[in-house]
Order: sequence, then C-alpha cells, then structure tokens
Amino acid sequence: MEDLKALELGAIEEIGAVSTGEELEKLRVRLLGKKGDITSLMKGISKLPPDERPKAGAEFNKVKVSISSAIEKKSAAIKAQELSARLNDEIFDITISGKPYGPGHFHPSCDIMDEFIDIFVGLGFCVEEGPEVETDEYNFQRLNFPDDHPARDMQDTFYLQNGKRLLRTHTSTVQVHTMLKKKPPLAVIAPGRVYRLDSDITHSPVFHQVEGFLIDKNVTFAHLKGTLELFVHRLYGKNTKLRFRPSFFPFTEPSAEMDISCQLCGGKGCRLCKGTGWIEILGAGMIDPNVFKAVGYDPEEWTGFAFGCGIERVAMLKYSIDDIRLLFGNDKRFLSQF
Ligand code: PHE
Repeated sequence: MEDLKALELGAIEEIGAVSTGEELEKLRVRLLGKKGDITSLMKGISKLPPDERPKAGAEFNKVKVSISSAIEKKSAAIKAQELSARLNDEIFDITISGKPYGPGHFHPSCDIMDEFIDIFVGLGFCVEEGPEVETDEYNFQRLNFPDDHPARDMQDTFYLQNGKRLLRTHTSTVQVHTMLKKKPPLAVIAPGRVYRLDSDITHSPVFHQVEGFLIDKNVTFAHLKGTLELFVHRLYGKNTKLRFRPSFFPFTEPSAEMDISCQLCGGKGCRLCKGTGWIEILGAGMIDPNVFKAVGYDPEEWTGFAFGCGIERVAMLKYSIDDIRLLFGNDKRFLSQF
C-alpha cells in the first residue's frame, strides 16, 4: 500500500511537469498501460492473504481513477494552451481582398431547354408539367405498354417502395396527365427530369426531356414533320438536314426516330456520328388510338402527334461535348465556357 501511495504521488507530480501532448501520452502508457507501473505493482495482490485482497483491489482502482483524471485534466490544459498559442501566432488580415466571384449564368442544359420552350411557345404550344415519382399506370399502362411487354425493357426503370412507385423514365407521362385533365384540341410542351438505370459517356441516370404533343382533328404525320423541321432549323440553323427512320414506341403508331445531320462534321462522317453523318435526337409518332381510349378520348374523332427529345443529347451536339457526365459534374471550369 505504501508503494502504491508513493507511485500515485510520483505520478501526479510527473503529470504536472509534462508540457506536450506527446510526452503525456508516453507517460500514460508507462503508468496505466498493460505493461505499466500500476499493472506490475498489482501483481503483488496475489501474495496478500485472501481476506485483504478485495480492499487492496479497491485501493488500486481508486489510484487508477485518480491518475486517469489527472491525465485528462492535463490533456485539456495542453490543448487549450496550444490553441491560444496558435491564435496568437496566426495573423488574420482583414484588409486582404477576397476572391472575386464572377456573375452567374444558366447551365447549358437549362439554356437549351429554354430555347426549346421558346420556339414551341412561339408556335402556340403551352407548357405542362408532371410528377417525377410516378406509378406504373402513368409511366406504362396508359401509354399502351401491356404487362410483361418487352418494350418495358427499353427503359430500365428505378423502382421505389417495392415496385409500388417508380421514377418516371420519360416525359410521355405528362401526355396522360394532361389528357385526363383537359379536353382537346391541345398543343403542349412538357419539359422535365427523367430517370433510367443507365450510365456511360452518352447516358446519365438522370437527364432531361422535352415532350411535345398536339391533338386535334385531322392531324397527320406531315404536321409532325413540318413542326419538327421548323424547330430544328430554328435551333441548329437552316443548313441542318433531318431524316426520319421507322421505329417503335407502344404509344405511337406509326413511330419514328429523327436524326439530324451531324453538327461536328456537317454530315461528312466523324467520330461523334460514328461515320454516318447523322445523329438521332428524338423519338416521335402519331398518338396510338389505345392511348386516346385510355384517357376517354374518342379515337375516331381525335388524332395527334407526339415527340420526346433528350435535352442533354441536343446540348452535346450543339456544343460538341463528348461526355454527357460533364453536364452533371458542376465543374465550374467546364461550365464557365458557356
Ligand atoms: N418517350 C419516348 C422515349 O423516352 C420518346 C417519345 C415520345 C416517342 C413521344 C414517341 C412519342 O424514348
């Protein structure tokens, strides 16, 4: 017990004399560590008569606690001292001017979307929006995707709540919402964010589309073609050529994909257009009678066209950007060029 008392007194004195965190840590290991002073002294307990052991054990614990708390106090004191020394050393010069902020501007994707909307609003279309979290009904069923139809695989879907909801894979959902809300004739443009399980240099899991559709009596494919031609010439200039290729979408019949002549090589063929001179920018077609039936429009009376265009694709072409991820990275060095 005397040795223990002496150890405690010596320890407290040593702790008081320490001046750096490192020294304190070394001392802690020497005193309280597995091979430390207290542990070796504790081995003596086993030599005591059994009835004295509990009391001795309790004494050892008291000493351990007192040494630990002395170390903690010292550690706090050292930290406070170090901080105040730093605050004294470091000069904060309030006269240095800050880093200049340039004026902000719209993201290139927003610019394209605005231009897109302006062109169609100029043609008399109005803007509608729909939710990004959807149900199978609006994203697929009412757009004439039957259950288990392979066309569902065209769009790898993010499902939520065990499949009860999903992130919309296209803005065609807004066709359904609008038709259920309003009576024809309609001319609508619907911009928005869409989601697909896809990620590489030309695909991002989130991207933007602009949907357009027009419903009236006696609408033909020629109206669709004329509208898109005007749009392409406004956006890319009159020299840009366009062509339609037959395609398939469950909600349009007939369906087409539209290509425009490559902006990078002017149609001669390059890396961007994979040597073809053409780049696909949108899907389109005549609204399928089944879609009209699903919203209670009479398909004998009403006809219409629809198209859906990927905004990032259009921006990439317009500015010759070769990786879609640049448009989502928010790197100011990239964005400040627009
Ligand atoms: N929704 C289709 C897509 O995302 C595009 C489309 C819209 C096609 C309207 C035809 C009519 O791929």
